[in-house]
Amino acid sequence: MVYESVPRTVRIILLGESGVGKTSLILSLVTEEFTEHVPAKAEEITIPADVTPEQVPTNIVDVCLSEQTSEQIAEEIEKAHVICIVFSVDKQETLNKVASYWLPFVRDNCPDDYRKPVILVGNKIDLIDYSVIDNIWDIAEEYPEVDRCIECSAKTLTNVSEMFYNAQKAVLHPIGPIYSIEEQE
Ligand code: GTP
Repeated sequence: MVYESVPRTVRIILLGESGVGKTSLILSLVTEEFTEHVPAKAEEITIPADVTPEQVPTNIVDVCLSEQTSEQIAEEIEKAHVICIVFSVDKQETLNKVASYWLPFVRDNCPDDYRKPVILVGNKIDLIDYSVIDNIWDIAEEYPEVDRCIECSAKTLTNVSEMFYNAQKAVLHPIGPIYSIEEQE
């Protein structure tokens, strides 16, 4: 059984298809307002311990598919403690890619016996008036490293700080050892 010792900083990486709102989520968190035009990739951000709910310095890393190779993204996954995979709730194909591409890609870049916690983030809930959470249970069942799913909006700031707080909590208070029973047997 593999336990990762609790780190003294938390490094969060945001992955997901182009246009789902990764950069917007980071900038909405930091500025507490939504900006329509954001850069392709946010600079790495460090949130000081005293303004995080868990009192732990937190680095937030953006990823941009058009500016980074998959090798560079893989290196960022290796450095991260927790992975937020973002999709856009109004674009089913971005959720399909979570299961068909992003979760396997994250697994491929984590050690076999230690799976980093993953948060699934459905962004842009301001665009729809229903929940897509029911479409996610099957994915969460197939990938037990999925710690939780959260719906949010960078535009209305709904659940944005909660999303980053949940990512922190997944690292600092893991529900259980994150490892694969099949691979251990
Ligand atoms: P890449 O840099 O291409 O990987 O995209 P990204 O995932 O960083 O998306 P980005 O933050 O650039 O946002 C893409 C578009 O979606 C922009 O036009 C944003 O204004 C818009 N957007 C982001 N978040 C929201 C949201 O919560 N609601 C709505 N309505 N639009 C959003």
